[in-house]
Amino acid sequence: MSGLRLPAGAASLPVQYRSEFAAALLSGLSARPRSIPCKFFYDRYGSVLFEWICTLPEYYPTRTETALLRDRSGEIARAVGPDATLIEFGAGAPWKAEVVLDALERPRGYVPIDISGEHLRAMTEQLKRKRPELPVEPVVADFNKPFSLPAICEGSRRVGFFPGSTIGNLDRQEAISFLRRAALLLQGGGLLIGVDLVKKPAILHAAYNDSAGVTEAFNKNILARANRELGADFHLDRFGHYAFYNPAEQRIEMHLVSLADQKVSVCGHSFAFAEGEAIHTENSHKYTLDGVRTLAEESGFRAPSVWCDPDRLFSVHWLEPKAPA
Ligand code: AVJ
Repeated sequence: MSGLRLPAGAASLPVQYRSEFAAALLSGLSARPRSIPCKFFYDRYGSVLFEWICTLPEYYPTRTETALLRDRSGEIARAVGPDATLIEFGAGAPWKAEVVLDALERPRGYVPIDISGEHLRAMTEQLKRKRPELPVEPVVADFNKPFSLPAICEGSRRVGFFPGSTIGNLDRQEAISFLRRAALLLQGGGLLIGVDLVKKPAILHAAYNDSAGVTEAFNKNILARANRELGADFHLDRFGHYAFYNPAEQRIEMHLVSLADQKVSVCGHSFAFAEGEAIHTENSHKYTLDGVRTLAEESGFRAPSVWCDPDRLFSVHWLEPKAPA
């Protein structure tokens, strides 16, 4: 997006994330093929860009899932049951959770977990003003690492909420280990999870190649972030956004492709890029309904209910941990 300027600003994230980013970037750029973990998209600018993506005409997942949660809220609330504490994994924006909380019988509380602390705090303040009666306890953490839950999660029925097909960022092994840990955490409750579906490649392609160029700016923000936080010297116009559907792997892949022979310096290390060389920045796996069921079964869940929009673009599943063997 040529018109969009990402403002330069002081590093805003907690120091441990900055150095984690530095370590991941240095090792990802040294590896072949080069890659950067997609969780580093979400600094304050990346979180805003992602929210913008969610409003784009080509990006069907957000509006489809939100409509699904709203249209089927009665059935969803019956499946989830009363007195639940809703724990959201990767809570970029609380409004999907609000749709669910509105439908639930006697919700006990809301625990949004997100890596972007500043963003999470702003969202939480808004929500608290809107719903003073609902206990909200945000947790700043990477939900793929160990973290501790706040006290309101003790002695209540824990229900996980994992919307937006965030699980699509994980490969199969990572998805299974995430779900296995979730199954242990959510014994006696369950997991409400949104998963994007396999569909016509042209629809998928358009969703990650929007005409306004916001996805391009989102992808390049990971380089802009390296410049802001780590003093790297990436020229954003010397990298091209490249997103495509890989049918063999059932996933969208996002890359940043070097448009020239160039050198980039990051934390005192120099990296040479040949023209055409790529940095792999994201995978977004798509599933069939059967694929989700199989994945859930393999990870210690039963999958008693699933909801789908009429065009079968997106799915929401209610998963219950099987009793431990
Ligand atoms: C937040 C991971 C679900 O894969 O669709 C959107 C992120 N990347 N456009 C997705 C994303 C490019 C999104 N997830």
